[in-house]
Amino acid sequence: MSDADYKSIIKLDSELNQIRDVDLLLERILLEARKAAHADAGSIYVIQREKEDDGSMVNKLVIKHAQNDTLTKYLPPGQKLVYSVFSLYINEKTISGYCALKKELVNVSDVYNISPDAPYSYNASYDKISGYKCISTLAIPLITVEGFLLGVIQIINSKDQNNNVVPFSQDAEMLIAHFASIAATALERANFIRAMIFKMNKMSELRDPKETGTHVARVAGYAVEIYERWAFHHNVPEREKERFKDSLKIATMFHDVGKVGISDEILKKPAKFTPEEYAIMQQHTSIGAQLFTDPLIPLDLIAWDVAFTHHENWDGTGYPGWIDPITGKVISTNNEGKPLGKKEEEIPLVGRIVALADVFDALCSKRVYKEPWTDDDVLAEMKKLSGTKFDPELVDIFFEILPTILQIRNNNPEEK
Ligand SMILES: [Fe+2]
Ligand SMILES: [Fe+2]
Repeated sequence: MSDADYKSIIKLDSELNQIRDVDLLLERILLEARKAAHADAGSIYVIQREKEDDGSMVNKLVIKHAQNDTLTKYLPPGQKLVYSVFSLYINEKTISGYCALKKELVNVSDVYNISPDAPYSYNASYDKISGYKCISTLAIPLITVEGFLLGVIQIINSKDQNNNVVPFSQDAEMLIAHFASIAATALERANFIRAMIFKMNKMSELRDPKETGTHVARVAGYAVEIYERWAFHHNVPEREKERFKDSLKIATMFHDVGKVGISDEILKKPAKFTPEEYAIMQQHTSIGAQLFTDPLIPLDLIAWDVAFTHHENWDGTGYPGWIDPITGKVISTNNEGKPLGKKEEEIPLVGRIVALADVFDALCSKRVYKEPWTDDDVLAEMKKLSGTKFDPELVDIFFEILPTILQIRNNNPEEK
């Protein structure tokens, strides 16, 4: 490895350790692994327990991100590749499965000419579906210091200076193996943060059963994608965008955490709220904000805005409006003597984004009082609410990135 390679690895170590969200981290790990080995494409898998048809649970490799420079070139600027979601058994039959089983790196120069002695083979149907031909591939396990397997990075088609596909070199193997150990440490830490967030959210889920872990994951996923597209239109610098995405993702997961402070009689009431009960329910916004007041934690600034303003409406008809969430004091009243609603850009961007993401997910989901709406009805409703409930610019962005939004929905189905 050259000095430059070492320097970039050291820099990456500190950068990866600043990313707290698991999904954003996985996306970045795959990107950096591909960059280091000049790979045109790749996928990243994590170990997840999945239910088999016979009801037994088994550890599998679940794809979390796929990237492909060649296929992305054909997409409009700023659009992301949509890939199919699948999982693999950890066994000798596939390249990634073998890599996970043996916890060792696998380097194949041509997947269409794998040695007959090798236990694994290549499933060419992926190439047929995508129209992209995989030739060389390198699969690397992500293993913690204690030897636990977290996942596998599989990078595809190493390119030389003339853009020809070549096998992955021994240098690339060494560089990627070193990179994988750094990535595994960062991933282990992000997994821990995720587990803590899920525990906190589990507490609010126990109070309000419709706020499930998957609802929270989907809404956070949508919010980040909407922000990313907004940042693309507003020329937000790359570094600032990446940092903000990470904080927004975590902050969004806490959008309804204030429900821990609302009584069960109200949260679980199967009938319509009385005006008094509805007023109490609305307090989950202020209670949520009260949890994020630490000036030493930058994440708290965003989490405060999200929790406090995700029920404000673009036209000023939402809640809680102009009040001080700590003291409950009303800052500005409307002509009925109630707190004046925040409107348009008085509502922080993150509040406007999460409002849209949260409502979209609620419409698509089953609730005790309703079945999920059809996609046509949901999308018509989103358009209808542009300029009244939602920021019209964000509704336009939502439709621009609809394939990515639907991909997130597919990736995080409601548990049965
Ligand atoms: Fe809420
Ligand atoms: Fe929600």
